[in-house]
Amino acid sequence: MATDPVIRPMVPADLPAAERLSAESFLELDRRTVPRSWPEPQVRSPGRADQWLLRTGHFLRTDPDGCWVAEDDTGMLGFATSYTRELLWVLATYAVRPGLQGRGLGRALLAAARHHGRGCLRGMLSSSSDPRAVRLYRLAGFSLHPQMLLVGEVDRSALPVGEGKVRDGTTGDRELMDSIDRRTRGAAHGLDHEVMLQMWRLLVTDTSTGSGYAFVAGDGTVQLLAATNRRTASRLLWEALAGSTGRVEVHHVTAANEWAIDVGLAARLEVHQSGYLALRGMTPPTPYLHHGTFL
Ligand SMILES: CC(C)(COP(=O)(O)OP(=O)(O)OC[C@H]1O[C@@H](n2cnc3c(N)ncnc32)[C@H](O)[C@@H]1OP(=O)(O)O)[C@@H](O)C(=O)NCCC(=O)NCCS
Repeated sequence: MATDPVIRPMVPADLPAAERLSAESFLELDRRTVPRSWPEPQVRSPGRADQWLLRTGHFLRTDPDGCWVAEDDTGMLGFATSYTRELLWVLATYAVRPGLQGRGLGRALLAAARHHGRGCLRGMLSSSSDPRAVRLYRLAGFSLHPQMLLVGEVDRSALPVGEGKVRDGTTGDRELMDSIDRRTRGAAHGLDHEVMLQMWRLLVTDTSTGSGYAFVAGDGTVQLLAATNRRTASRLLWEALAGSTGRVEVHHVTAANEWAIDVGLAARLEVHQSGYLALRGMTPPTPYLHHGTFL
């Protein structure tokens, strides 16, 4: 018989097992929750696993006290990774092995991660649509803001004529991005920007009428977007969509970001719903499209 589970701080040697557990748990969740009309949930690709390891290793380096695992003598049963940026606590990712969910491990892991954010006035996380997760977040005092999702192939005849005001960004744009972060979500991403720069293309616009930035994956999928006004945010989203190839998805659109829905509808994308932006001590950032773990 297995020993009683213990909750202990995560260490770098745990990362490969945590990645596999995460891939397994989210695949099982997708099979339970993704609509049948959508593409079949896929096993996580080696490229996505590498990105997971890169960003989770980063969170573990910046916030070792925010990252926890549950284990017994059979191995890892679950984990939670969280970090603080200025006065904001963020839950990056969180999973319990399928088959062991609903037995109290998740509640204990979340309590350990939340302890790390005890000095923070605000909290932010992107919740899956797992009813267990949603229950735990609301019981922990988070407000739940439904996230919409724009999906489809961009109608290229709808693309506006480029105004040439968007350029590729570099690490030299970090201070500008941190200022926009503080204005939109109340806390800078700081070193997170360096990690995002390793993974995605950075688009920046900085004119007399507004500033903004967006991280965009190779297929044109926006990963994170922040701007000082809606017009600038829309310009960045259009620029990302113009570079898309085939089916594109724009995730994490809250009702506070209707500018993004309007761009998506103009591009003839479909609107769906998936999960929640869960917040404490703050209202939904805008104009802003958050990332699932960099938030
Ligand atoms: C979310 C998750 C980490 C929670 O871990 P867990 O070990 O299942 O959580 P717990 O057992 O501690 O708590 C689950 C709560 O939901 C309740 N619950 C269990 N099954 C449920 C169901 N089918 N529907 C609704 N609530 C349910 C439990 O009773 C418990 O509430 P209570 O403590 O008030 O009784 C885990 O379920 C998981 O890995 N899900 C898939 C990945 C995921 O969605 N991660 C979160 C990303 S934001």
